[in-house]
Amino acid sequence: MVPVVLAGCSGPLSTLDPAGAAAREIAWLWWAMLSGAAVLTALVLVLLAMGFGPPRKLRPRRWTHGLGLGLSAGVLIPLLGAGLWVGERVLPRDDGALSVQVRAVQWHWEFTQPGPDGPLVTRDVVVIPAGQPVDFEITSADVIHAFWVPQLGGKMDAVPGRTNRLRLQADEPGLLHGQCAEFCGLGHAAMRFEVLVVPPESFEEALAEAAGGTDD
Ligand code: CUA
Repeated sequence: MVPVVLAGCSGPLSTLDPAGAAAREIAWLWWAMLSGAAVLTALVLVLLAMGFGPPRKLRPRRWTHGLGLGLSAGVLIPLLGAGLWVGERVLPRDDGALSVQVRAVQWHWEFTQPGPDGPLVTRDVVVIPAGQPVDFEITSADVIHAFWVPQLGGKMDAVPGRTNRLRLQADEPGLLHGQCAEFCGLGHAAMRFEVLVVPPESFEEALAEAAGGTDD
């Protein structure tokens, strides 16, 4: 049951409504950070209510070191550890996963992936099989854009002259949404794309169909 205050946290562009492994890790980290921040805020409010000062028996230096350093380290070190752990788990590995070339252009997305008779290009829609890791090899034709499918994982910059790799995996067949996440000019807000997740057995057919519908 989603509380009323979190009612806006679901939907096609929400990182808190994960549809894949990497997004789940990131959502978990987000909740951990929110919980830590909530505990700290509550603690500060309690101290404020107590009237700022240290308890008389405690020397000021201890108070400063204990709370100022101890508390900060106690919160930041576990969060740093969690961030590194999540970051490591969402990295691509050289295990022969399906690879999709992504090219960002002002203001649309081009996706190229191998088909039975050569590369197939789709525009503003990428077809991927459910339950399988996919490595997106991301670059740009002009300015810096950012590739982002919030329900599948984190953002990755699309930089001219460079290729950045991002691994994503979708749990179930369905239609997901992506958005350019770096301001790239007048058409930025409209630079969206769709991720069509299909059952693995109908992947080739769906990809050919999507590629047939473009002008390329
Ligand atoms: Cu492309 Cu913003």
